[in-house]
Amino acid sequence: MFYSEDIVEEVRSRNDIVDVIQSYVSLKKKGNTYTACCPFHNEKTPSFHVSREKQLYHCFGCGAAGTVYTFLQQYENFTFPEAIEFLANRAGIALPQKEMTLQERRDADYSSALKEINKAAASYFYYALRQEDGKAAWSYLTDRGLSEETIHRFGLGYAKIYSDDLYKYLKQKGYDDRLLVDSGLIRFDEKQGATDVFWNRVMFPIMDQNGKVIGFGGRVMGDGHPKYVNSKETKIYEKRRHLYGFHLAKRSRREGIILCEGYMDVIAMYQAGFDNAAASLGTAFTIQQAMLLKRYTDHVYLAYDSDGAGVAAAQKAIPLLREVGISARVINMQPHKDPDEFIKTLGAEAFEERIRQAESSMMFQVRIASEQYDQQDPEERTKFQQEVVKLVSVIQDPLERDNYLEAIANRYFIDKKNLTESVNRYGAYRTEQNRYQELLERETPQDVRRQERREERKQQPQRLLLGWLVAYPDQLFPQMKGRIGPEDFTDAFYRELAQRLFEQYEATGSLNPAAIIQQYEDLEAETKAAAALQSDLPMEPSPEDRATVITEVVRKVKEESLQYQLAHLQDISKLQDIIRQKGQIPTWNISLTCG
Ligand code: GTP
Ligand code: MN
Repeated sequence: MFYSEDIVEEVRSRNDIVDVIQSYVSLKKKGNTYTACCPFHNEKTPSFHVSREKQLYHCFGCGAAGTVYTFLQQYENFTFPEAIEFLANRAGIALPQKEMTLQERRDADYSSALKEINKAAASYFYYALRQEDGKAAWSYLTDRGLSEETIHRFGLGYAKIYSDDLYKYLKQKGYDDRLLVDSGLIRFDEKQGATDVFWNRVMFPIMDQNGKVIGFGGRVMGDGHPKYVNSKETKIYEKRRHLYGFHLAKRSRREGIILCEGYMDVIAMYQAGFDNAAASLGTAFTIQQAMLLKRYTDHVYLAYDSDGAGVAAAQKAIPLLREVGISARVINMQPHKDPDEFIKTLGAEAFEERIRQAESSMMFQVRIASEQYDQQDPEERTKFQQEVVKLVSVIQDPLERDNYLEAIANRYFIDKKNLTESVNRYGAYRTEQNRYQELLERETPQDVRRQERREERKQQPQRLLLGWLVAYPDQLFPQMKGRIGPEDFTDAFYRELAQRLFEQYEATGSLNPAAIIQQYEDLEAETKAAAALQSDLPMEPSPEDRATVITEVVRKVKEESLQYQLAHLQDISKLQDIIRQKGQIPTWNISLTCG
């Protein structure tokens, strides 16, 4: 760990989790907890809970959970050191300056090291663009109409023609080879040894939403192939989670976000005053990117290329945006290919006009469908109308749906009454199908394999017990004496967590769950532990029922434990004792006075 446990704890305790999360997500107070729609997945009813008492959060929908540190690591994409610096600053605490060797630092945080390397490379490219070697690259950019100010704003740079000069530079800064290869900037091969991935290219640093460099796109100057070389995915550069230019776009005062395809499009729009543009990273637009956008806006303008590929990409992006509740409009770029070309030839005012005229995504989808069928041919026309029915039936709001039906009926000369009836019939069928789908998915969440779920179910009593020990420590710990100890948790992970809880309660006479969570080294373990410490029944039972259920849970944990001991029995003389203990379980009754 970077900072001493004391400091980590002090910084955490001086940043109330409710206040911190409240500044990102609007929380509603509900009894002892605060709830909201989860910022980490798409949902319509709130299952995200924040507890001031426990200083933890938990989403019952997607399983996100943790402390105020975890939250910032997940939400802001901070590394742990970044999160602690942010919170220390917020609470006005001065962090001790610790002198560390590079090696220590690297071990302490792999992600920070990757970010450091990317940052070092970005400034290396930035200066190279301004040196004699970079003259051609500079002309390439200015010939494409970019001003010095714009080039600076996007941190553009140049990778020189030598095949290993970045490698030498980073090496001299002390980074080791493995890390450099992991960063995606250096390649290793048997024959040539270490070489730079990018050479003789104009460099576009790709930043996360906080403006930290996480990767690069490198463009050939002119018509060579491949046009772009992009950084590979790394621990800090997951293409599906980031958008080019978003760190600037999210701060724009303009309404909505303009989504486009190319780095150059983002930059050209920015220079023309449309500073709310962002692009996906040479890959298809994803649901994670849609969720990222949704944190900042409800409106997106699609400024995709006007060619077939662009239209197809827009058609794929629209349902994803709709799914997170963003209404999209499509900007018509004709007769030009992309925003960059459009602005260069017709100017910013004409582009502003196109934004005003942007077509709603629904009318866009219907128009594209209409172009795919021969409207003179009855069979084709029926297919088109069936397509329309499918498209319109995704609109939930009846008023909005009726307005679209009206507009479509008028524009495409379809009888509105017939169309409405078909949509209603199809809608009813769809909800039926959705409900079925929902049930199926509840049974098999895509990311949890069946085996894991069986394990999970087996561990549920252990988790519930942990959650309740945290919720009612003063009542439950005394009742555990002589019955259950950490060793009774059969799952290794929960056993260790229980160990920490029991030890803390014994030592201090109270519990500080957030302090326990932050002792875990990696985010995944933190999440799992935090979720466990907040386990509860899905429904709020009455106080009597609660006591009954907890009695059952405690008995179950013990039974499992004895069962496990039996299965792994080596010393036969212990058999008697286990059988004796088993016989006592049914006499246990756990009481719980407050609800
Ligand atoms: P210009 O041609 O310079 O205007 O670039 P652009 O940014 O407008 O790119 P374009 O619209 O051709 O492509 C959109 C995006 O796709 C780019 O920004 C890149 O992220 C990606 N891309 C384009 N060409 C390539 C390629 O050859 N290889 C890879 N890996 N990605 C590419
Ligand atoms: Mn372009």
